[in-house]
Amino acid sequence: MVPNALCLRYKFKTQTSKLKISMIYPVNWQDDRVVLIDQTRLPAEYAWVDIDSSSDMATAIKTMIVRGAPAIGIAAAYGMYLGAREIETEDKDEFFNQLEEVARMLRQTRPTAVNLFWAIDRVLKTARDAGNGTLENIKAVLLSTAKAIQTEDLQTCQAIGDRGLEVLPATPEKLRILTHCNAGALATAGYGTALGVIRSAWKANRLAMVYADETRPRLQGAKLTCWECVQEGIPVTAIADNMAAHCMKLKMIDAVVVGADRIAANGDAANKIGTYSLALVAKAHNIPFFVAAPLSTIDFKLATGEEIPIEERDPSEIYKVGNTILTPDGVEFYNPAFDVTPAEAIAAIITEHGAVPPGELAQFNSGSIPALK
Ligand code: MRU
Repeated sequence: MVPNALCLRYKFKTQTSKLKISMIYPVNWQDDRVVLIDQTRLPAEYAWVDIDSSSDMATAIKTMIVRGAPAIGIAAAYGMYLGAREIETEDKDEFFNQLEEVARMLRQTRPTAVNLFWAIDRVLKTARDAGNGTLENIKAVLLSTAKAIQTEDLQTCQAIGDRGLEVLPATPEKLRILTHCNAGALATAGYGTALGVIRSAWKANRLAMVYADETRPRLQGAKLTCWECVQEGIPVTAIADNMAAHCMKLKMIDAVVVGADRIAANGDAANKIGTYSLALVAKAHNIPFFVAAPLSTIDFKLATGEEIPIEERDPSEIYKVGNTILTPDGVEFYNPAFDVTPAEAIAAIITEHGAVPPGELAQFNSGSIPALK
């Protein structure tokens, strides 16, 4: 069971209008604890919260203080170390039993993002591989693996950004790119996948405008993507989700780039709810639709997107905005957090090892993720 109560210990909290953040790192290891940017408070407040137990980390993931597939994986990897640190036994078998319990708790937080499971499995494996050492050594290996996952993700996202430049349309004018939700620095170690491609396009002087879908119901586009763009001076226009088709029809959009939470072996891609309809509308207007994601987001165990578990969240995310109730009593709600875009609607999947059509993902299925050169 994931506990719900989290006693937030804010390290630092300020109104964001007062400052510009040059580097955005949502997950930080400091001294003996994890410090997270509390993404539920942006853009009004930039606040860091201390996390020093595995159960608090589970709650932070579930309540979306930290969110976005790669960032969840990194946070969970640190959560595994925090959990290992809490185990008091000197008996190794008992230690690993209790560590599996920590993994079980963290796995229950959010079901769709495969990076969560990938990162937990990776730290568990390195702990088991170090099983001949002392418990102290095994715990140190858990921490260093979490740090390695974080460092690698930063390099991976920068590579995704650069590989994305190779497939973005070559237009005479600078590009206008539409994105959905937040697949930026906040959702990763610090550069972003879809927003990583956009950052790279901006640095290469190829970007005119980002169109950010507001992304109902949690508004990650309006709140987080727009905030990130503003920090970096990237021009951004926020639109409500139901305006995307209209903008495409008016030829205001040259490409759509989104992230993913889990991609099946055939290239079907789960991402934030609303991505599927965006892909269909882009296809209807002949606008290339790209999914940017690290190889750790591909789940080769699943043949198609139909097998991807879709998280359902609390209905209050739909019927409440702040303290305002939007709907009358007696209404029922359905609140899926993700949908699956079929491979045929995706022009290419942009990974750190290159952009490929979804049907060609099998070339990356080597069992382990190759290191970046
Ligand atoms: O529910 P969220 O905010 O965690 O959903 C995030 C997304 O859908 C992102 O697009 C996805 O995780 C990719 S993040 C690089």
